[in-house]
Amino acid sequence: MENLKDVENSPNYTFVKGDIEDVDFLSALFQSHQFEGIIHLAAESHVDRSITNPLAFIRTNVLGTVNLLDAAVKHWKGNTQRFYHISTDEVFGSIEEPGLFTENTPYDPKSPYSASKASSDHFVRAYHNTYDLPILISNCSNNYGPCQFPEKLVPLCINNIKESSPVPVYGQGLNIRDWLYVEDHAAAIDLIYHKGLVGETYNIGGGSPCKNIDLVRSICRIMDEKLNRPIGQSESLITFVKDRAGHDLRYAIDSKKIIEDLKWQTTTTLEEGLRTTVAWYLENDSWLDHVTSGHYKNYYHLQYNKR
Ligand code: TYD
Repeated sequence: MENLKDVENSPNYTFVKGDIEDVDFLSALFQSHQFEGIIHLAAESHVDRSITNPLAFIRTNVLGTVNLLDAAVKHWKGNTQRFYHISTDEVFGSIEEPGLFTENTPYDPKSPYSASKASSDHFVRAYHNTYDLPILISNCSNNYGPCQFPEKLVPLCINNIKESSPVPVYGQGLNIRDWLYVEDHAAAIDLIYHKGLVGETYNIGGGSPCKNIDLVRSICRIMDEKLNRPIGQSESLITFVKDRAGHDLRYAIDSKKIIEDLKWQTTTTLEEGLRTTVAWYLENDSWLDHVTSGHYKNYYHLQYNKR
């Protein structure tokens, strides 16, 4: 709820708490609201959690998505509303240099998380083919920015460095991810929802490929500067830990289609995005303290204690 404070008083905003696994809830929701469309972002999204609890990912990402598709087909008459499904580049698996994922790259998911998202993408396309539901899909690279839960690498590093705790880097830190600043992603979503062609898929990449270790070192450098710590102090916290099981080595997206067809482009470099992100977390101490108390402590212990 803390992430929604900024829009709390907007006249065009309503918050309803519900679970997409709950068919009755969805049915009542579709009856009480005449939706103009759906942008479906509800998902279990963290690979490490999918390794410890795959069933939760099948329930939310696969069953939940099918429930939502079903409700749309059942309640929308005339099939003019758009159902836009947000997905991930991880459905394509890992790709060797210098390859890039295009919209036509065959699916090859490798983790329980990516397998669940791949499955949900297939269902969304199947509902277009079978029931004429006007769908759109996008597959994005790794998001980062303010308000991200610190299970993910960037905020986890910022939080640990702030606390002068070890910064866990899996394996040798050689895995490559393409970092997409959250506001650039939000702009792409807005564009695809309004201007994308029904039935189409768009890849959204950050255009900022980076090895994990280089990314973590950049965060350390920015943290030293912002916290007035001696150069190298944060880097000394880096700890190489046991690798993630089945860890994909490299993700890399070709964003040509959205750039050419919808005139989208990134506006934030990785350095700028990281600086803004670090500044946000340092200014929002209470947000960070709140989300890292309670359940997070158990999660962290479970994931990192024996690594
Ligand atoms: P993550 O933020 O979990 O995103 P994804 O798995 O969807 O790419 O992780 C980004 C990369 O950072 C990934 O290669 C795993 C690695 N990583 C670490 O090295 N240490 C960590 O504590 C975490 C959470 C991730």
